[in-house]
Amino acid sequence: MVPVDYLIIGSGIAGLSFAIKMAQRFPDRKVLIATKADARECNTKYAQGGVATVTDLDKDSFKKHIDDTLAAGDGICDPKIVEMVVHQGPERIRELIEWGVRFDSDPAGNPHLGMEGGHSVQRILHHKDATGSEIEHILLNRLHSLPNIVLWRHHFALDLIMEKSTCLGAYLYDQLTKTIEVIGARATFLATGGIGRIYGHTTNPKIATGDGIAMAHRAGALVQDMEFVQFHPTALYNPTKGQSFLISEAVRGFGAHLINTKGHRFLLDHDQRGELAPRDVVSRSIAFELKASGQTHVYLDCTHLDTDALKSHFPTIYGKCLEHHIPIDRDWIPVVPTAHYLCGGITVDAYGKTSIKNLFACGECSRTGLHGANRLASNSLLEALVFAHNTHSYLSSRPLEPAPKKIPTRENKFSFLPIEPDLIKPYVQDLQDLMHNKVGVVRNTIGLKEAVLQLEALQDKVNRLLSTSVVNPSLHELANMIVVAQLIVSQSLQRKENKGGYYNEDQIRT
Ligand code: FAD
Ligand code: SIN
Repeated sequence: MVPVDYLIIGSGIAGLSFAIKMAQRFPDRKVLIATKADARECNTKYAQGGVATVTDLDKDSFKKHIDDTLAAGDGICDPKIVEMVVHQGPERIRELIEWGVRFDSDPAGNPHLGMEGGHSVQRILHHKDATGSEIEHILLNRLHSLPNIVLWRHHFALDLIMEKSTCLGAYLYDQLTKTIEVIGARATFLATGGIGRIYGHTTNPKIATGDGIAMAHRAGALVQDMEFVQFHPTALYNPTKGQSFLISEAVRGFGAHLINTKGHRFLLDHDQRGELAPRDVVSRSIAFELKASGQTHVYLDCTHLDTDALKSHFPTIYGKCLEHHIPIDRDWIPVVPTAHYLCGGITVDAYGKTSIKNLFACGECSRTGLHGANRLASNSLLEALVFAHNTHSYLSSRPLEPAPKKIPTRENKFSFLPIEPDLIKPYVQDLQDLMHNKVGVVRNTIGLKEAVLQLEALQDKVNRLLSTSVVNPSLHELANMIVVAQLIVSQSLQRKENKGGYYNEDQIRT
């Protein structure tokens, strides 16, 4: 058994910012970060638009940010949590800047604030259109100055170690040595990110398979609001499955229009806020437009915008579209709503505490009550920073939990057969097709009920494979994705009215 004080699973903004805070505060305590891929690969790295927070007190206010968050969340947010997060925002951003993160500003040093859907004023701090990459880079660099943090790359967390209702750590599978490490921790912090890969088309990278949510659910933790999957309205249309490139909402905030094949700005027929309505409204309007037209995508039109300004504000997007032979100052960009973010997850309180003792969760794998039924754009990075800080404050204000003494080892005892990747792929595709067809932007009750049965059948097959094979992270990811999909489907069926990102065409909106 490897004893540590704090075990952190995940090296995105949630895991890294918590690790840095704990390690700085307690130089004599041992902090272990385990991540299943290389350290940088995570949703955080791909964040484009930025971080929403109140900085311009002439035009903005805490009340406006709170009201925008509550309106986007469609009545499901926890107002106390919204208030707490919004008020803490500036302090957390000040800390990020102190650590070295650079946000764009004008020559006089005033922050350049972006605009995105659902925001009533410009308030998004950003680093061009690559904010996440900047944050991830700075946080990882900061680890070098903290010798009490150890980062284990390519270590896949298989399961939490539980004794009655207390978490004692986790089993980690070292993908290089192919051995299982047993980690005994005084506190375990899940920061495993999102679930986008359960859909064939997603803005999320490969790591987003919902492992933390599945592990917590298996251990008995409360998991809520899973029906609220957020589909980003404008991913670059790509008929090939996998990670779709995002065209940031900030481009619409900059003045781009959504149009159909005839060049008509159809969103205004659905909502007077047009392109800057909250994300659920825009994605649903596009889905209705596509259903009516039979087309596969709509377009984002930037051709009326200033070319130099476009290039300077959105260099990544400009360059990526050019790689696809789309000069965005001259051609329309084909876009389609794509799975992007999970508003629900492991239920936590204001300190990131889950319903399991000594288990905390933060970032996209958690459900804090901030986002309700539909996250306001750019509130996710902010949420991770605030809750990482709150868990740090909570743990700092109390004595360390006793170290776990005796932990059962997890043997690779079913080690019969290695699994070929080709055996797993068709099951992943079945899952992704099922989620795309029956659990997408617009759902219906029959489709959801069929999904329940198909997921059960898929789970049976995968469980059989799991019980007869050596540990295989891809197979565990698939099993986790099925658990997450089941939670989404069952919680969808429990919701009796349409709210935010959940829309069942058999039900009415309230
Ligand atoms: P992640 O950054 O995804 O990190 C998860 C970590 O957990 C990874 O290191 C992963 O390897 C690890 N992990 C997962 N499972 C295991 C396991 N079994 N064992 C070990 N390690 C594991 N939000 C905003 O607020 N503003 C934006 O502008 C914005 N733009 C976005 C653009 C894109 C393209 C995407 C995909 C998302 C965007 N978001 C944005 C959302 C935001 O980026 C994420 O919600 C946030 O970064 C999540 O951070 P995290 O630390 O919770 O998870
Ligand atoms: C974007 O840049 O459009 C993504 C912002 C977010 O997901 O919050």
